[in-house]
Amino acid sequence: MGTKMILDCDTGVDDTMAIMYAALHPEIDLIGMTTVWGNVDVPLATRNTLRVLELVGRGDVPVAQGAAGPISGGPAEFAYEVHGRDGQGGASDGAIPARAAEPVSAPQHIVDLVRAHPGEVWLVPVGPLTNIAAALAIDPELPRLVAGVSLMGGTTAAPGNVTPVAEANIWHDAEAAAAVFRAPWNIIMAGLDVTMRVIITPEHDARLAAGGQAGRYMSRIMQYYGEFYREHAFGTWGCAMHDTIAVAAAAGTLDVRLAPVVHVDVDASGGPGHGQTIADLRGAYRGYPEQEGAHCAVLLEIDGGVADAVVDLIAAAP
Ligand code: BDR
Ligand code: CA
Repeated sequence: MGTKMILDCDTGVDDTMAIMYAALHPEIDLIGMTTVWGNVDVPLATRNTLRVLELVGRGDVPVAQGAAGPISGGPAEFAYEVHGRDGQGGASDGAIPARAAEPVSAPQHIVDLVRAHPGEVWLVPVGPLTNIAAALAIDPELPRLVAGVSLMGGTTAAPGNVTPVAEANIWHDAEAAAAVFRAPWNIIMAGLDVTMRVIITPEHDARLAAGGQAGRYMSRIMQYYGEFYREHAFGTWGCAMHDTIAVAAAAGTLDVRLAPVVHVDVDASGGPGHGQTIADLRGAYRGYPEQEGAHCAVLLEIDGGVADAVVDLIAAAP
């Protein structure tokens, strides 16, 4: 049945693409979803998640709602300027999902699903890491019970997107991220080093717009997000794919060219480096020799052809 996966989303625009890919890919067994604050507030993330699953005919995937703000209890800041006030580029269809979330918290849902399938489940968090840190607190044995954690977050050499050095998902809850990177599980870090280099172009957009219901919806909600990236990053319309890269990495559907396994720490100091992922890449000149105890594979080079594969899958959905 393919790779068992729990996808944890702060469902904005790129999260929606990740959900569609995970829900539609024949080699992915999406056994559950959880929602978290981040791009938007968590009730909206839940509503968007339920609606997107419905759109792709996956109303069978259980969804549990999670954290409304950082693990410290500090204030939550959202990214409506990137994802629109509805988290769907101002272009959601407004439909009320037929289902509600499960009557269980996201962290508990994660623990329950992992314990039901020991050794098999990939956790794929693509928002702030609050739910994952909370799940670790509930069940400290989680690291030996999962197949791995493939997360979208952080950066090593690419510029940050919230501060000069910090990526949004890590910066939003650096304390939770520090706990997740410290836990002894295998992590794949899909950070801005790679996710800013896989772009949905106007040509991809045209393919989505000519596709079925899912493709047309994706094309519609991407317009605003692509404009944000035109203005703040690329100078031309384009959508950084971000979250889908973490899904494809977990599923093994990504052609990874360079991903050294190194120590990664998170700066949660509150200083100018707050939210930075500090990866020990000093072995770069020697082919990245093994680092004892390191358990984080940092994606540095991937094949950008994944954008075509993702677009084709979504466009072909009914
Ligand atoms: C990350 O932040 C969010 O805006 C995106 O959904 C992605 O997960 C990129 O920094
Ligand atoms: Ca996200």
